Amino acid sequence: MTTRTRILTGITTTGTPHLGNYAGAIRPAILASRDSNADSFYFLADYHALIKCDDPLRIQRSRLEIAATWLAGGLDVDRVTFYRQSDIPEIPELTWLLTCVAAKGLLNRAHAYKASVDKNVEGGEDPDAGITMGLYSYPVLMAADILMFNAHQVPVGRDQIQHVEMARDIGQRFNHLFGQGREFFVMPEALIEESVATLPGLDGRKMSKSYDNTIPLFSSAKELKDAISRIVTDSRAPGEAKDPDNSHLFTLFQAFSTQAQAAEFRGELLAGLGWGEAKNRLFSLLDNELGEARERYHELIGRPSDLEDILQAGAKKARSVATPFLGELREAVGLRSFVNPTQVAATAKKKAAKAARFVSFREDDGSFRFRLLAADGEQLLLSRHFADGKTAGAVTKQLQSGQALDIRSEAGRFSVWLEGECVADSADFADDASCDAAIEALRVALTPAQD
Ligand code: TRP
Repeated sequence: MTTRTRILTGITTTGTPHLGNYAGAIRPAILASRDSNADSFYFLADYHALIKCDDPLRIQRSRLEIAATWLAGGLDVDRVTFYRQSDIPEIPELTWLLTCVAAKGLLNRAHAYKASVDKNVEGGEDPDAGITMGLYSYPVLMAADILMFNAHQVPVGRDQIQHVEMARDIGQRFNHLFGQGREFFVMPEALIEESVATLPGLDGRKMSKSYDNTIPLFSSAKELKDAISRIVTDSRAPGEAKDPDNSHLFTLFQAFSTQAQAAEFRGELLAGLGWGEAKNRLFSLLDNELGEARERYHELIGRPSDLEDILQAGAKKARSVATPFLGELREAVGLRSFVNPTQVAATAKKKAAKAARFVSFREDDGSFRFRLLAADGEQLLLSRHFADGKTAGAVTKQLQSGQALDIRSEAGRFSVWLEGECVADSADFADDASCDAAIEALRVALTPAQD
C-alpha cells in the first residue's frame, strides 16, 4: 500500500473560464483527482485575485463562476478538498510566518515583479510606480497555500514554476530555523503536464483572454455558435482539399473528439468539406460534449446558497488539516501560551501514560485487532485487521516506541499510519475541535513517560 500523493493547485478568480482553460487545466485536474492515489486540494485563489483586480463585483462574480465551472465539469467534492483560499484564515497567518523568513533578495527576483519594474524603467517612470506590496509578496502567499497542506505536487503553467521553487526555498528555510530536526514542510514539486492541450483561439494564437480570441465555455449555444463562426480559416473554397494539420479549427475539434471522430473529420476536410460545414461539425461536437455540463453550470449558478454550502464544507475539511498544523508552527516560532507549555504537556503525559492501555481482541473472521483506550476508558483508536497476533503486537509496540506519529485527519476523524500504511482509525467526532482534542490526547497517551 502506498501513501497518497497530495496534489494542490489554485485558480486565480479574476475571469470567466473559457474553452482553453477547460481543456488546459480544469479537465485534466478533474481527471487526475479521480486517481485513487491522488489526494487533491483545489482552491479558488481569491486573495491572489485581489492583487490583480480592485473591482469587487468582478471578484465576486468570478469566484461564483469558477466554482460552478469546476463542479459542473464533474469535480467530486467528496473525493477532493475544494475550497476558497479566503475561507482559510490560517493561510494569511502562515503567510506572515513565512514572510518573516523569506529573503527580500529572493522576492526581488520574481519574474512578475521584475517585469513590472522593467516596464516602469523603460517608460521613464519610478521603478516602483504602481507596484503594490501584494504583487511583491505574491510568491509568499502562494508558498503558504502550498506549504500549509504539505502538497507533494503542484500542477501549474510554466510561468508559475519559479513560484513553486520559491515555496521550496522559503519552506526549507523555515524547516532549518525552527524544525529542530523535524521537517515541518514537505518540499513541493511543480508538475507541468506536457501532454495537455494548449488550445488555439479564434485567430490561431494561443487561446487567451488577453488576445480576445476565446471561445466561451458554458454560455448559451448561440454564443458558442457565434464564436465558432468567427474562427479564422484559409480561403479555400468548398470542394477544395483542406489541410487539417495546418488548421486550428481541426486542432480544436481534436481536443474534444474521439480518435475515430477526428479521423473521420480529417478525411472529410481532405475531401473538400467547406469551412462553413466544418464549423457546423465543430459546433455539434462541442455542444454535445459540453451541453450537459452547461446545464449543470446554469443550475449551480442559479443556486448560490448551495454553492456556498459546498465551499463552506470544503473549508471545514481543509481547516481540519490547517488548524492543528498552524498550531504546531506557532509553537515552533515561540508564539506559545504563557502557561508553560512543556510543563502542561509533562503533567498531562504522566497521567495519561499511566492509564492509557491497549486491548487486543480477535474478530469472528479470525483477524486480530486492538483498541487503545484512554484513562477514562474512552476509545482513542481502533486498529485495522491484522492476519496474526504477532503483527498486531508489533504495531502496538511501534506506536509506543516514541517515534513521530503520522496522524492524518479529515472531516472530523483521523487515522494513524506506519510506513505508509493505515493501521488504526479514530471514532467520528461531532466537530473539528473535538477531533483535534482527541489527536492531542492520543499524542500524550503515546508519548513515553520521561521517568
Ligand atoms: N499563481 C497561480 C496562477 O496564477 C494561482 C495560485 C495561487 C496557485 N496559489 C497557488 C497555483 C498555489 C498553485 C499552487 O496560476
